[in-house]
Amino acid sequence: MNGFETVIYEKKGHVAYVTLNRPQALNAYSVQMRDDLFEVLGAIRADGEVRVAVVKGAGEKAFCAGADLTEFLTAPSVVKARRIRGVRDLWGLFLEVPQPLIAALHGYVLGSGLEIALFCDLRIAADDAIFGLPEVGLGIIPGAGATQTLPRAMGLARSLDMLLTSRRLDAKEAFQYGLVSRVVPRKELLGLADELAGTIASFDPEAVRRAKEALARGCDLPLPDGLDLERRLAAGLPRIARGAQGLSGRKRKG
Ligand code: CAA
Repeated sequence: MNGFETVIYEKKGHVAYVTLNRPQALNAYSVQMRDDLFEVLGAIRADGEVRVAVVKGAGEKAFCAGADLTEFLTAPSVVKARRIRGVRDLWGLFLEVPQPLIAALHGYVLGSGLEIALFCDLRIAADDAIFGLPEVGLGIIPGAGATQTLPRAMGLARSLDMLLTSRRLDAKEAFQYGLVSRVVPRKELLGLADELAGTIASFDPEAVRRAKEALARGCDLPLPDGLDLERRLAAGLPRIARGAQGLSGRKRKG
């Protein structure tokens, strides 16, 4: 599966790689990129061979410098825009992908670029990464989830600070705030992404998917409902259940 204008899609073993590929425009998120990503994510979701995917940006300077400003406010009518979103809801599709997505972030990670990263499950950053949400300064608000996903990642106060003042974070601050889970020198970023992807791909894919679902869905539930979700997801894993029986058997003997 290939031949996209704005995205490179590759598969190596059980790992899929999605590269935002408009380096001449700092990988700005365009209408074409939305359509390409929609196809690629749909393919990943349906592909039983893919156990984990890495999302990264081409070129030296950016993961993604946000929405393509040359297309800014060129959407057709509101009605048409809503209809297109209904047919190709990329952000909704991100939420439906059962395999873990790893965002490998370098350089500029702005606006929609940060929103793409926020839909990924693991975010790792190069030490040159710069994070920002310029939307309010442009007279709009984020339209791809950041008002909801950012506070879930790093809390309300810091999210409001970032959003309302257009404050940019460097990689170190992003790590301190919990926006990314690891920071490495730039030249080590893709190696780390490969390593994490390889580890995840080596695990039982069903256990991985269920663990992702338990966390991703559970964190929006009241605790008793979250615990119930965890119980139901764990109950469907026969090997874990057998392991637990063995453990309790040993305990009883002792
Ligand atoms: N859209 C389209 N083209 C972009 C772009 C964008 N968001 N960001 C950068 N580019 C292009 C530049 O126009 C430039 O193209 P040319 O070489 O043809 O002139 C090329 O990428 C390199 O960019 P710069 O020369 O500007 O690079 P720089 O290092 O001097 O600056 C930057 C980097 C600070 C990221 C600057 O490019 C910038 O401010 N970009 C815009 C960031 C932005 O505001 N993004 C939109 C956020 S809002 C959003 O994403 C949500 C939404 O729905 C609208």
